Amino acid sequence: MATEERTNVPVHVSMIMDGNGRWAKERGKERVYGHFEGVGSVRACVEAAVETGVRYLSLYAFSEENWNRPEAEVKTLMGLMVKAMADEMDELDRNGVRFMVIGNRERLDKDLNDVVDACMARTAGNRTLTLIIFLSYSGKWDILQAAKKMAVKMLENPEKADEILDMGVEGFDRYLATAGIPDPDLIVRTSGECRLSNYLLWQGAYSELLFVDTLWPDFRKDEFRKALEYYAKRDRRYGKVK
Ligand code: FPP
Repeated sequence: MATEERTNVPVHVSMIMDGNGRWAKERGKERVYGHFEGVGSVRACVEAAVETGVRYLSLYAFSEENWNRPEAEVKTLMGLMVKAMADEMDELDRNGVRFMVIGNRERLDKDLNDVVDACMARTAGNRTLTLIIFLSYSGKWDILQAAKKMAVKMLENPEKADEILDMGVEGFDRYLATAGIPDPDLIVRTSGECRLSNYLLWQGAYSELLFVDTLWPDFRKDEFRKALEYYAKRDRRYGKVK
């Protein structure tokens, strides 16, 4: 895939994929039908990210709170992810995409963890685009697990207590599940909802936010490019005066 000539391209674009259920309902179908169509939008956004030169694309695929959905829907969604990952692995690798899953993986079934491990190992050396799937993830879970890791490190290394307590924001970043990944420049949420729903609470501190009415299954390459055009016009000041 060739890269387009563009200016002010965000390094990291993140998507809160919302509206699958409503998309299906509008068509008189079961909610899961929207999730199946949503996989097509995932594919379209991955292609568009490669074409536009975005380096990191992350997708909020399943939150910690989503475990509270009806069991049948959760089961279908998990099965859909196993299939999508297995089906797309070759294509992702061919296009230089590094695949990662971030979240509370202890809650995932073995078959899903196995395919995630296989896909991550297979694509680990790729750098054209890093595709991150946030699965069983929530911002508060991430901050809490980071704080716990820090506390354990202090208990195990009391002689380093001062060094740990002196740590700044960048030091804390290293305990987060997203360590090593740049913060998202742009977070897009589909389906007209204007909230973050416990997503990247720490990492999104200075992200540009874009809320679009399009339902996720309709969010394809044109919408992705429009989101980049919106971003290109933003004036990011990070609390400073220019
Ligand atoms: C939100 O729509 C969507 C989800 C919770 C699931 C998104 C997952 C996919 C599209 C599959 C992704 C697959 C891979 C491999 C990453 P909703 O159900 O909350 O919709 P509603 O708000 O209209 O009810």
